[in-house]
Amino acid sequence: SKTHKIAVIAGDGIGQEVMPEGLRAVEAAARKFGIDIEFSHFDWAHCGYYAQHGKMMPDDWFDQLKGFEAIFFGAVGWPATVPDHVSLWGSLLKFRRDFDLYVNLRPVRLMPGVPCPLANRKPGDIDFYVVRENTEGEYSAIGGRMFEGTERETVIQESVFSRKGTDRILKFAFDLAQSRPKKHLTSATKSNGIAITMPYWDERVEAMGAKYPDVRRDKYHIDILTAHFVLNPDRFDVVVASNLFGDILSDLGPACAGTIGIAPSANINPTRELPSLFEPVHGSAPDIFGKNIANPVATIWSGAMMLDFLGNGEGKYRQAHDAMLAAIEEVLVNGPTTPDLGGKSNTTEVGKAIAAAI
Ligand code: NAD
Ligand code: IPM
Ligand code: MN
Repeated sequence: SKTHKIAVIAGDGIGQEVMPEGLRAVEAAARKFGIDIEFSHFDWAHCGYYAQHGKMMPDDWFDQLKGFEAIFFGAVGWPATVPDHVSLWGSLLKFRRDFDLYVNLRPVRLMPGVPCPLANRKPGDIDFYVVRENTEGEYSAIGGRMFEGTERETVIQESVFSRKGTDRILKFAFDLAQSRPKKHLTSATKSNGIAITMPYWDERVEAMGAKYPDVRRDKYHIDILTAHFVLNPDRFDVVVASNLFGDILSDLGPACAGTIGIAPSANINPTRELPSLFEPVHGSAPDIFGKNIANPVATIWSGAMMLDFLGNGEGKYRQAHDAMLAAIEEVLVNGPTTPDLGGKSNTTEVGKAIAAAI
């Protein structure tokens, strides 16, 4: 059978602590279902490398990684030593752009056993996807500073919404909505205030929607949409959003579902010509690093999404994914859990328990 080549980059902070548990769980599932994986570890794309080399990655990073089927990624950022925009534009955001990982798929699910901060919500009430545009939008490198140091000092940054970039993320989101029982798509907009790019976004949503007559769609301005995430999370099925809006919604959603410590993501290039990247939604959490108390579930769940991706959601790959999710649920219900879930156990204990349950 085929050997899947996976690059592993743990990165900074708790990325170093959760990645071993992500690997432990993926290895357990791969062994159980007869999936052949070869991991290659890369000790760059972290701020320690920057301290030594004055850059986040070697110059040939693209060539080193381009042949892998996927990248399993921890987190990057250590703002005490490297400004965040330098470390992130020097690594993760490069991967997203240069590998054209235009889909950032972020499930939001209230899991059994997880205390919900919203009143009277049970598993099933919160179960949707944030589909985030991942290569353009508000995350642009276009702009600059003018009249620096004078009273007229001005900073400009452009947003970019190309027809191709907008339509391809919308198509992915509509396809996903169409494949789900509720067939419902929500678009995050702000076309009342952001009066050039967002009316364009709305226009493209309508044009794409016309091709999906069986997908019910609605749209909310981002401000009230955040309120509905808290007050009516059961309303959502697939939420499609620009880069920045999707970033915000994909921390808010998991917080509404109990903790950002379990939220996974898949950064996908659907052409599969370049590696897709799987990582927790959360960052390097310098505030808890070194204590081994980070929740490894987000990384383990991301690993499950990676296995599913390797097999196109079919056969033993889908079974491996489902077994990992079942093991996560079992451990969320019965323990052990980390402190973000009110538990007293550490990262390694939770990781080992999930691997054993697989
Ligand atoms: P963060 O996600 O790292 O942490 C936010 C809060 O959530 C912190 O209190 C942290 O302790 C907690 N938290 C995060 N993950 C957790 C886990 N697995 N278990 C338990 N608690 C967890 O966000 P931040 O503090 O805004 O950013 C810290 C650094 O990480 C910055 O450098 C930032 O740029 C970077 N960052 C990187 C990524 C990424 O690599 N994908 C994502 C977000 C932030
Ligand atoms: C995420 C992160 C990144 C983003 C940061 C670290 C640049 O917050 O993956 O959600 O904004 O995309
Ligand atoms: Mn984010």
